[in-house]
Amino acid sequence: MKRIRIAVLSLAVLPLMMSRVAAQATGGKDLYDANCKKCHGVLGVPPKLMKEKFPKLAPFDAAFLAKNNVDAIVGILNKGKGTDMKPVKDKLSAAEIASIAAYVKELASKK
Ligand code: HEC
Repeated sequence: MKRIRIAVLSLAVLPLMMSRVAAQATGGKDLYDANCKKCHGVLGVPPKLMKEKFPKLAPFDAAFLAKNNVDAIVGILNKGKGTDMKPVKDKLSAAEIASIAAYVKELASKK
């Protein structure tokens, strides 16, 4: 009986531990989803309506990555770009900006 209880307990705890690890690894994704997804799209491809509203929106893809490394992305997040890409440095910490930039690079390198 005791052994069964231990087995049930570890089955219950394991997903909890795993979800905590996943949450750490996806910090950039959560921040991106909360702050960027609306305009840039869930996978870095702007939704059609946004593209119509902001014609300069370009997908995060290989061509984007060829022109922008992580430092350049951090720079855009700190300073903004054009009239519609607002800087986020007053809203997010340097660490948060760094993890979003890494996530944007990850999205771009998948295309
Ligand atoms: C209100 C819509 C909007 C939101 C929200 C937004 N952006 Fe943008 N973003 C734009 C537009 C529009 C441009 C194009 C600006 C230009 O070139 O004039 C742009 C440009 C960029 C660029 C440069 C792309 C290139 O091809 O040079 C990067 C990188 C970027 N955004 C990242 C982000 C990230 C990361 C976030 C979230 C923190 C974010 N943006 C939030 C609208 C948005």
